[in-house]
Order: sequence, then C-alpha cells, then structure tokens
Amino acid sequence: MSETILEVKNLRTTFRTKAGDVHAVDGISYSITKGRTLGIVGESGCGKSVTSFSIMGLLENPGEITGGEILFKGEKISHLKDEQLLKYRGQHMAMIFQEPMTALNPVIRIGEQINEQFIKHRPHLSSKEVKEHSIEMLNLVGIPSPEERYKSYPHQLSGGMRQRALIAMALSCDPEFLIADEPTTALDVTIQAQILDLIQDLQNRLGMAVQFITHDLGVISEVADDILVMYAGRVCEQGSADEIFKKPSHPYTHALLNSIPKLGHKVHRLPTIEGTVPSIANRPSGCQFKNRCEFATDICGEKQPEFTEISSTHKWLATTLGARDR
Ligand SMILES: Nc1ncnc2c1ncn2[C@@H]1O[C@H](COP(=O)(O)OP(=O)(O)OP(=O)(O)O)[C@@H](O)[C@H]1O
Ligand SMILES: [Mg+2]
Repeated sequence: MSETILEVKNLRTTFRTKAGDVHAVDGISYSITKGRTLGIVGESGCGKSVTSFSIMGLLENPGEITGGEILFKGEKISHLKDEQLLKYRGQHMAMIFQEPMTALNPVIRIGEQINEQFIKHRPHLSSKEVKEHSIEMLNLVGIPSPEERYKSYPHQLSGGMRQRALIAMALSCDPEFLIADEPTTALDVTIQAQILDLIQDLQNRLGMAVQFITHDLGVISEVADDILVMYAGRVCEQGSADEIFKKPSHPYTHALLNSIPKLGHKVHRLPTIEGTVPSIANRPSGCQFKNRCEFATDICGEKQPEFTEISSTHKWLATTLGARDR
C-alpha cells in the first residue's frame, strides 16, 4: 500500500454570515496517496477553493472548519493555529492559486519573492545559496533567461510566465503535497498544455501527491488518477478516473461529461448544463441536483440521497436514478 499523504474526513467548512451559517463544504471525505493526482471538478461556487483553503489553513473570516478533520501523513492539522501550520505550509504542502496576478506581490521582484520561501523554510542557507536556489527553481519551471527574470517585477512577465513563477514559489521547498487551484484557467490553450505538462513532469520527478482543481473535465482527463465530483458543497461521485469516465453514475457527472466537446467533432456551441446550482445558504430538501436533472421525479425532493458504493474505489450519492440504470 502506498503512503497516504492527505486525508479529509467528513469536513465541514462554514461561513457565519449575518444571513445565517453557510456550509460551503458540507461533509466531504477523500484521501490522496503519494505520487497520485486527485482531480476535483465541479461548477463555480461548489466549494473547490474553500476545501483547499481549509486544508492550507488559509480560510478568511467569517469562514471556519466546523466539523470533521484533516490529516497530513496521519497527523491532525485541521485544529492547528496559524504559527503551527507554518511548519506544514510551504515546507510540506504548497498551493498554486487561481489568480497568478493577485497571488504575486506586484512591487517585489520575482526573485526576491522566491527567495522569501527559502529564507522562511531553510534558514541555514547563505544569501548566495538562496539566490542560486531561486534561479535554479526558475530554470526548473522552464522560465528562459532565469538570471534576468530573477530581477523582473511580476508585470514584466506574461501570464504564462507569472504562473510558472508561482509554481516555482510553490515548489521551492519540495512539498510532498501540492494543491493546484485552476492553475491554467487564466491562460491560453497552448500555455495551458505547457503548464499541465510541467506540473506532471515535476510530480513524476518529486513524487508529490497533487490535488488538482478545475471546472474542466477535459483537463482532468489528462492529469487525474482519481476524481472527486463536487456539487453544492458536497461530493456527488468519486472514483478512479477510469471509473468516472467509463461508468459515471450521478446524473450530474453525466451532464458534466456531456459538456466536453468530443475530439474530432465540430463544435458550434458547447453544451452546458441548464439551470443553476441551488443556494448553499438555503438548501432545498432531497437531491441538490433535482431542479436541473432530466430524470427527476417527485421522489427526488423527498428522499435524501445516500452515499453508495459501486466498487471499493467508486462511490456516488445515490439519487433515485443513476446513469448506470438507464
Ligand atoms: N467570504 C465568504 N462569505 C460567505 N460565503 C462564502 C465566502 N467565500 C465563499 N463562500 C461560499 O462558498 C462557496 C464555495 O466557494 P468556492 O470559492 O470554494 O467555489 P469554487 O468551487 O472554488 O468556485 P470557482 O470555480 O468559481 O473557483 C460559494 O458559493 C459561497 O457560497
Ligand atoms: Mg475556486
């Protein structure tokens, strides 16, 4: 059995707002083992980033973990305070954020921002060694003329290069666990492919466990070993990539898969899933997907779906009618 790096058990993250408690993540569980990539997929607002911030201890007020636990290599980290979490963040776990421009400090040179990571986590290095390591990282992520780029400010780099610089920062201390939160969404398709290759290449070399977040199942099909499909703060299906792509069960997974353009088909308009995700603040009863599901019947509003095993690795939040039954 390979080593479990991250375990999320029945995690609940709540935003305590004036209008009431919003459970943005509502009882999700999964684990990631060494060297594997878990893809988390789901539409905007379904809780992908909130899950990641909960793991990294980066939740902002009024968000807090209100249930379940998060374990890193068997140690509980979900109750740790900021200073204690610093030991993990950067050194053992790192995150590439959704927005490269907001994640970089615009008034500090790229090189110095990477230096900061080494200074924080490897205080024994001399300043000459720190600089050498930073330039090596820029080189590793494929930034041309790294000595020159070391001196650049973020606005002097293209979007793709900024994203590479962020990856360099995230990977500077050889983390065992990396969260990549939509690392390619803001980039054009060619650069997207390069960044995906880069992350996979680094993962193969460093053996990291990766949590890769996207709303794009096409991207997930290229990078993920396992897949978690989230809907309205909950997991509606999880399994190996093979199981999810070949035997999707939840109507939502099915709908997502149908929205990927098939290779070689001329696409005039991308099929989208009609309707919107229900308000998490005001959850409907029964199945959360019922208002958009083409197979919904009256019973979907009455019966609470239950998490059901299809195989030891494949589970789904069983609605009255799974895609497999059709
Ligand atoms: N500061 C906040 N206050 C109240 N609710 C919040 C706050 N931040 C997030 N939420 C709630 O958490 C939900 C999940 O947000 P999250 O950012 O995790 O979505 P996401 O899946 O990452 O979406 P996207 O694909 O757009 O990045 C939101 O729909 C919202 O209801
Ligand atoms: Mg997000």
